[in-house]
Amino acid sequence: MIKSIQIFALALALFMPQTLMAAEAPTISEAEGPIKIINLYELEKQASQKVNKGAFGYVEGGAEDEVTLRGNTLVFDKKQIIPDGLTGLEGVELKTRFLGLDLPSPIILAPMAAHGMVHKEADRATIRGTHKAGTIMSVSTYSSVLVDEIAQSAPEAPFFFQIYMSKDSGYNEFIVKRAKDAGARAIIITIDAGTPGNRESDLKNNYNYSSPTPNVMIYYEGQDMTQSQARALRKVGFSGEDIKFIKSVSGLPVLVKGIQSPEAAEEAIKAGADGIWVSNHGGRQLDGAPASFDMLPIIAKAVDKRVPIVFDSGVRRGTHVFKALASGADIVAIGRPALYGLILGGSEGVNDVFQHLNKELTTAMILAGTKDIEAVKQNRLFDPEK
Ligand SMILES: Cc1cc2nc3c(=O)[nH]c(=O)nc-3n(C[C@H](O)[C@H](O)[C@H](O)COP(=O)(O)O)c2cc1C
Repeated sequence: MIKSIQIFALALALFMPQTLMAAEAPTISEAEGPIKIINLYELEKQASQKVNKGAFGYVEGGAEDEVTLRGNTLVFDKKQIIPDGLTGLEGVELKTRFLGLDLPSPIILAPMAAHGMVHKEADRATIRGTHKAGTIMSVSTYSSVLVDEIAQSAPEAPFFFQIYMSKDSGYNEFIVKRAKDAGARAIIITIDAGTPGNRESDLKNNYNYSSPTPNVMIYYEGQDMTQSQARALRKVGFSGEDIKFIKSVSGLPVLVKGIQSPEAAEEAIKAGADGIWVSNHGGRQLDGAPASFDMLPIIAKAVDKRVPIVFDSGVRRGTHVFKALASGADIVAIGRPALYGLILGGSEGVNDVFQHLNKELTTAMILAGTKDIEAVKQNRLFDPEK
């Protein structure tokens, strides 16, 4: 009997620390403060240690074999910036204008769900961070906090609202009007997510993304509407009529996000889109789709400056921003890196990510001899394959 108690005590002593450690493992960040950034790849590694594996996998992962996810960043290496040592610039100007807004640099935040899965202050901290950086936050339909509350967290901060359109047009009208009343400056319609991509990291981690979706639930309040029922209402096929509808009920400029072909861009412009958002959702949807940067010049040629182009997917360096601008983008958006900043430093961390990219872009512009964003856009990249 005594012996078995001793064995039990020994087993307890051996396993207890791990059990306690597991219970104490960080699940959600509460960090707030400046962060040191070497580069955005290092930032990803640091952030992975601060939140639980499931939530991190949801943020970091891509669809299936992650070919498109990897390609999004690798593809920037195919084009090169020829340095112009003769120009000898001492300083450069990053500021630009987009949809009537003055911005200190051409880098904005892409819409993302999940802020509340990784940081206690969720989208509230993110918008304070984009405000500090002087840039635009894009608020997702699936933000963790109601759009009104995000707006109130940084009342002066410009933001766009992204809609996953529903089959229920009453909801669509309700939410874009609510976003407008909260202060949204534009509506982004995302067209590339009729169904979620097959992201295996969630399966591996047994992770079931089940955050509340306040921007959906508020409309169905009092009705018998579960979250999964609300998601099942998501609209799948799009036409120009949807763009016209959102424009007319919101009275705001409309950007169409998830454009990956010149034909889709053409259709969106014909329906009155005020901007084209070239994106493959950061490699999270169709694996095997082209890298977003590969499609950018083809789409830009078709758009032919009729409306501005926002570009995202895979941007991790100032030189990537440079190359996107030189390939037809007017504005570049970042996704995951901002969430890594949020995990590591809350609003300050988000600001630091933007400042870091601005710093890298500044260096690239000085070395390339491009004095401002217009000059970057005129720069002809070198393609050694051609
Ligand atoms: C965790 C996560 C959640 C996202 N949620 C949304 C969303 O709710 N709506 C949307 O239009 N795009 C969403 N996206 C896609 C981003 O807007 C953007 O296209 C993508 O992150 C850009 O790629 P990058 O992360 O390589 O910068 C999400 C991306 C991530 C990483």
